[in-house]
Amino acid sequence: MITFLSFPLCLMETFNCRSSLLHGYVLFMFLTTIGRGLCLGCNAPSSPWCFRRNATENVYICEWSMNSDESNVMFDLYYNETKLGTTNKTWCKCNEELLIQYRPVDIWVQARVGDSRCKSPRNSVVLRDIIKYDAPRNISPSWLKNSLSLRWLAAEKSPALAEVWFRRDEHGSESWKKILINTTTKAAMYHVTIANLVHSSAYQFQIRHQSTVARNPLWSQWSEVVIVPAELQHKPEVTMTKLLEKGTQKVVLTWKPVPKAAAVRGVTYSLTDTQSSASCPCERKGQHTSTNKYTIYLSYSAANISVIARNAAGHSPSAVIQVPAEFGTNFSACDKSLHNNIHKRRKATCLELYEFQNEDQRPTNKITFPKRMKKVQKKQMIASIKDYVRYIYFEHQCKGGKPETVTTCLYYHKEGVPRSPPRDLIALSITESSVRLSWQPIPLVDHRGFLNLSLCFQKISSDHEPMECHNLSASVTEYNLENLTSETKYNIRLTGVTQVGEGPRATVVVNTRPEKSFNVGLSFGFLLVFFLLSTTCTIFMKRLKSKIFPSVPTPVIPDFTSSQPNSQDVLLEKKEVVHQLTLYQPHPEEKSFSEEAEEATVLRGECDGEIDEDVDNERSNSTASECVSPGSTDQVMRNSEKGETTDLEQVDEELALLIYRNGLVFDLKTDLS
Ligand SMILES: *[C@@H]1O[C@H](CO)[C@@H](O)[C@H](O)[C@H]1NC(C)=O
Ligand SMILES: *[C@@H]1O[C@H](CO)[C@@H](O)[C@H](O)[C@H]1NC(C)=O
Ligand SMILES: *[C@@H]1O[C@H](CO)[C@@H](O)[C@H](O)[C@H]1NC(C)=O
Ligand SMILES: *[C@@H]1O[C@H](CO)[C@@H](O)[C@H](O)[C@H]1NC(C)=O
Ligand SMILES: *[C@@H]1O[C@H](CO)[C@@H](O)[C@H](O)[C@H]1NC(C)=O
Repeated sequence: MITFLSFPLCLMETFNCRSSLLHGYVLFMFLTTIGRGLCLGCNAPSSPWCFRRNATENVYICEWSMNSDESNVMFDLYYNETKLGTTNKTWCKCNEELLIQYRPVDIWVQARVGDSRCKSPRNSVVLRDIIKYDAPRNISPSWLKNSLSLRWLAAEKSPALAEVWFRRDEHGSESWKKILINTTTKAAMYHVTIANLVHSSAYQFQIRHQSTVARNPLWSQWSEVVIVPAELQHKPEVTMTKLLEKGTQKVVLTWKPVPKAAAVRGVTYSLTDTQSSASCPCERKGQHTSTNKYTIYLSYSAANISVIARNAAGHSPSAVIQVPAEFGTNFSACDKSLHNNIHKRRKATCLELYEFQNEDQRPTNKITFPKRMKKVQKKQMIASIKDYVRYIYFEHQCKGGKPETVTTCLYYHKEGVPRSPPRDLIALSITESSVRLSWQPIPLVDHRGFLNLSLCFQKISSDHEPMECHNLSASVTEYNLENLTSETKYNIRLTGVTQVGEGPRATVVVNTRPEKSFNVGLSFGFLLVFFLLSTTCTIFMKRLKSKIFPSVPTPVIPDFTSSQPNSQDVLLEKKEVVHQLTLYQPHPEEKSFSEEAEEATVLRGECDGEIDEDVDNERSNSTASECVSPGSTDQVMRNSEKGETTDLEQVDEELALLIYRNGLVFDLKTDLS
């Protein structure tokens, strides 16, 4: 026993045990002289336990406890009668070399307060058998349907026995449910699975564990109470809004909050997008947020964004939002220099080629040239670009952390001639000078290059007629050929044209209509009807006239017939237009109407005027009186010759006159007295 004293015995935590060896030795001698088993004015400490943390450990930890209000309590630790050291704590560490490990030893502790000394009961143990693990640390839960799997850092390779206490978090006052369970060990972690829980609830857990291999295992301390949130059973309900900003798609994602039980220890959302994970064009790590909204910037290319909610018990299934590519509608053909771009790329850019075989906006394939790639890989990718196939070319750059599509155009790696003609070429309507044509476009897969249509027409005749052509856009499906010659046979043909040449032709032969045939006939018809109408009108009018205007009766003037008109009278008659006016002396005997009619007939014969022609002619009285029957009165004749109308008026007064004027007979009677 004395031999032990000559060695440094114990590693004290608070002061250097080894340096105070002499001091300890002196103390020991003092104590032994005072005597053992005495307890003067203090409570006895509990008997100490000395243990290792695990089977490979070579340091023993001894622990004891004491109820005391005193502050200056010193403890001396003994095994058998050997003092291991002195401390003011309730534990100390001792190196295994100093201890008898394989035989039972008595371990006890003595407390000193001033002059008082108290001894603990002795604990007889084989030190080597005792193992006490540290409290479980780094506990991580995860749900598996209604079972919860708990993992924590393993103390040893060998499995442990765990005591798990748990209760629902929502019901804080609920008593603990307790289970003992053997752990499994995997990757330096202990695993236990607790079944029959409700995964939509949050739980509180505490765990302690002990060795299953040690002969004398001690329970570890309890772990801290761990709150396990409910399982995130559903993927986040994400809604997306998209905004286009100059080559960049600004995608704003919002989602509903998770249930409260799943969020007890907070939730974070992880977002990843396929563009940044492919570094095309920006290299970004996963993005995280604890809010319910996030904005992601994408190039015009298509991308999938996944949103995952995470809590302490795991993560939700991922919600995948597919953002379609923004192809737009207006594309120009790619510049020739782009061809080189594919072969000799600038480092900061990422290229994409979307393959289009069909008219619909859905690409059939995509080739991505990332920013960095090996030569061999690049060669393979270039080889995979198909000839005669339409691609939409995208060039993306990362500008200030934001992706931007800087170039978009239509690309053919190699062009060919169109493979098919426009289908169903027909003439919709034909006039004498125009033909309306309609057709179905050439399917995109048959374009094989940048396509135009060439519409040509040519007169079919014995002469060699020139062919006239119109260039049309490939999307046109109707055309009106104008300024054609009427009644002519035309050969019309329509072909697709690329830079390489023309494809197969669609042809149609049309006959333009005869010129104005309908109009000429109509005009002739109108003319004929007009002619007939006017003719019948004339005849009818003539007949009507002869009924309304009967023939002028001839007055009978027997006295005048003998008298000869002098030469002057004849001249006068010839010079002047004569109205049928007759002045005559009334006979004393009454004449019958027939006699008067006879006279009128005579007068008419002498006057020789065309009655019909003078119907509308209005004359003054003076001229009307000029047609005078010769020889009626010399006086009158002379007056007439002189142009003295006053004299004539005088004569009028004297005579009863019968005037025929304008085809009517007026009986003018004057007072002869
Ligand atoms: C743990 O495993 C041991 C050995 O297989 C067994 O004897 C013991 O009953 C198990 N304990 C529990 C709580 O399952
Ligand atoms: C997005 O996901 C769908 C479905 O898994 C897949 O077909 C598509 O290729 C993906 N798009 C991108 C751009 O990764
Ligand atoms: C049609 O296009 C071709 C090729 O661009 C050109 O040579 C030809 O002159 C054009 N014809 C007409 C009528 O514009
Ligand atoms: C047809 O001819 C007229 C007059 O010569 C001309 O103004 C017009 O542009 C022509 N139309 C076409 C389609 O050539
Ligand atoms: C197609 O038409 C456009 C516009 O007229 C012209 O610029 C282009 O050269 C034409 N392409 C071919 C192959 O004729």
